[in-house]
Amino acid sequence: MTSDAEEISPVAAAAAAAGVVDERIRSLSTASEASEDSATALLPDVTFGPTNHTGMGSPRSNRESQPLLGARHEVDDFNHWPDDPHFTDLVRQAETSIETGIYPERIYQGSSGSYFVKNSSGKVIAVYKPKDEEPYGRLNPKWTKWLHKVCCPCCFGRSCLVPNQGYLSEAGASLVDQKLQLNVVPKTRVVKLASETFNYTRIDREKSRAKKMVSERFPKVGRHFHRIGLPPKVGSFQVFVEGYKDADYWLRRFEAEPLGETTSKQFQLQFERLVILDYIIRNTDRGNDNWLIKYEKPELAEEGEGEDWSMVKPPEVRVAAIDNGLAFPFKHPDSWRAYPYHWAWLPWAKIPFQHRDKGTGAASLV
Ligand SMILES: Nc1ncnc2c1ncn2[C@@H]1O[C@H](COP(=O)(O)OP(=O)(O)OP(=O)(O)O)[C@@H](O)[C@H]1O
Ligand SMILES: [Mg+2]
Repeated sequence: MTSDAEEISPVAAAAAAAGVVDERIRSLSTASEASEDSATALLPDVTFGPTNHTGMGSPRSNRESQPLLGARHEVDDFNHWPDDPHFTDLVRQAETSIETGIYPERIYQGSSGSYFVKNSSGKVIAVYKPKDEEPYGRLNPKWTKWLHKVCCPCCFGRSCLVPNQGYLSEAGASLVDQKLQLNVVPKTRVVKLASETFNYTRIDREKSRAKKMVSERFPKVGRHFHRIGLPPKVGSFQVFVEGYKDADYWLRRFEAEPLGETTSKQFQLQFERLVILDYIIRNTDRGNDNWLIKYEKPELAEEGEGEDWSMVKPPEVRVAAIDNGLAFPFKHPDSWRAYPYHWAWLPWAKIPFQHRDKGTGAASLV
């Protein structure tokens, strides 16, 4: 692969102008190749080995050394899921809006670089968390995290987790959720995106600016650049769920105004799905700010004059498990920090497990 420095050197430019270089021209902001910063993160990235075309039954095949997941050589394939056109379309919407200048917006409350991704009408459609902006990522935008890392490295992070793999944990939680048909994790996959609003090094920004300038002045040369825009980052892309509020908000309200019997049962079953998920993935960060509740109060309508009020829409309560980036520990979190599940103190955790939902794969687990 030609490095960016070579691409804009006079030699490369002359060679390109002479038509010697024959590289494919890629789009400016969609997935093409990962940010160089991702590649130089504090820890090596998880990579997929080359696909071994020898059949599994073949005596020459070495199953031990074969990756469980197939290789993804074609980076162009990255943001494409033929078996999930809905998700593919959502990511296309995000790419299109970024191309037209509607950039993802930083979520300021978080400890990492997390972004609300919008569609072309400005509606939030997803939450994106680039790998290199995670607390352990070298481009984490929070100075408090940086200070923490520099001044107190021994207390930073969780020793039971592989650092800087939060985006994989987010996608993994979604996979577990789907396999067990819990349906509490908003669909999450690993996606590559580039945006002006992401945190990049000055070098990355300068390179992109220089290449843009060269290609504007010398279009023939510019045509041969591998990539002109900012380098795409790899990260987790989670579908944004509408109408939900932080669990804390509704839990307080439920204390003051207890739910009716039916809704309470519905909530209990949803809550148990969250509990199952957290046990299986051993989430180390399930505070009550890391799950959401949607509660639609019963709507009342007047049927006719002189008649009683009657309910037209039954109340609905749903749970969404977000922020699953600190799960899948490689060892039991048995050190001085226990990482409890914060829902364990809630009254619903004291009720004997009700989960008899035959519709979910989890039913066989309880
Ligand atoms: N899929 C989603 N749908 C709707 N809202 C979401 C979703 N994911 C996150 N949010 C909103 O964004 C806020 C921050 O999200 P999240 O906790 O995942 O980010 P974070 O950067 O990891 O934060 P922190 O470090 O504080 O845990 C949440 O409190 C929630 O209000
Ligand atoms: Mg959070």
